[in-house]
Amino acid sequence: MGSLAGKDILDGAQFSRDELQHIMDVADHFLEELKGRQGLDLMAGYVMGTLFFEPSTRTRLSFETAMQRLGGGVVGFASASASSTSKGESLADTIRTVDQYVDIIAMRHPEIGSAREAADVAEAPVLNGGDGAGQHPTQALLDLYTVRSERGRIDGNTIVLCGDLKFGRTVHAGVELYKHYGCKLVFVSPESLRMPPDIVAQLRDWGVTVEETTDLELALKGADVLYMTRIQRERFEDPAEYERLKDSYILTREMVQRLQPDVTIMHPLPRVNEIAADVDDLPGAAYFRQVRNGVYVRMALIALVLGCI
Ligand code: NCD
Repeated sequence: MGSLAGKDILDGAQFSRDELQHIMDVADHFLEELKGRQGLDLMAGYVMGTLFFEPSTRTRLSFETAMQRLGGGVVGFASASASSTSKGESLADTIRTVDQYVDIIAMRHPEIGSAREAADVAEAPVLNGGDGAGQHPTQALLDLYTVRSERGRIDGNTIVLCGDLKFGRTVHAGVELYKHYGCKLVFVSPESLRMPPDIVAQLRDWGVTVEETTDLELALKGADVLYMTRIQRERFEDPAEYERLKDSYILTREMVQRLQPDVTIMHPLPRVNEIAADVDDLPGAAYFRQVRNGVYVRMALIALVLGCI
């Protein structure tokens, strides 16, 4: 049994560099195992619950794909309105209930801290697929894996994270992983959507070189990886403020070609306007390969947490 067996996956800060390495190596193993076949029977009989109280395309479907390709089964719901939450049931009671059925729980919920609350009442390990504007560690892991597969190594890359750094849970989790690899981090955002100061301070304490700017073109010049993010409309109290900020950054093909043709372009998706469609066929545009990587990384996490590999 590895060190992840039986553990909840709640935030990016919980991993050591050795654990990150191991997860990525196991993801590579599953990538190889799936060559030339549709699925494995490693986890036959196991059941995963996917409890999604907030919208999702990739996270839920890739968890479900991962479990099914491992040979396991899936039960779950895709919106709060489809669960007894709509009748007034508490999160704790819903989790206690699902805990009677399944071996592992993947969940997404609008409240920061909800995954931890679920983990406190569940026997089954809980995988946090996004808790409000908090954390999204499984996305961060597939992002890290994508940097490794696109660039050959993670160490020493300059990573530019651009967009909504205040509410973006993928970047909150991601920086906790990059800090293990001596990456320089450049944060590009509107003033009002800066990375939370406590996260910036902790990174600097860890010894990470962090720069903050509002200027994407300037940041792009030294970038190895550009990680674009969506302005998180659902977290804004004032719709007018969202309208003002929504198109703050739009990456165009011309910008990439002029400023940094070798850059690896990533995005957790969904994209709204922040990457023009004609960027998609540039060789560095990695965001749909990133989506596919999510399946291998989630297969690795499920198998490791359940002690099956
Ligand atoms: C992200 C999320 O839900 O936080 N999407 C994802 O999981 N791939 C990013 C976003 O919604 O902007």
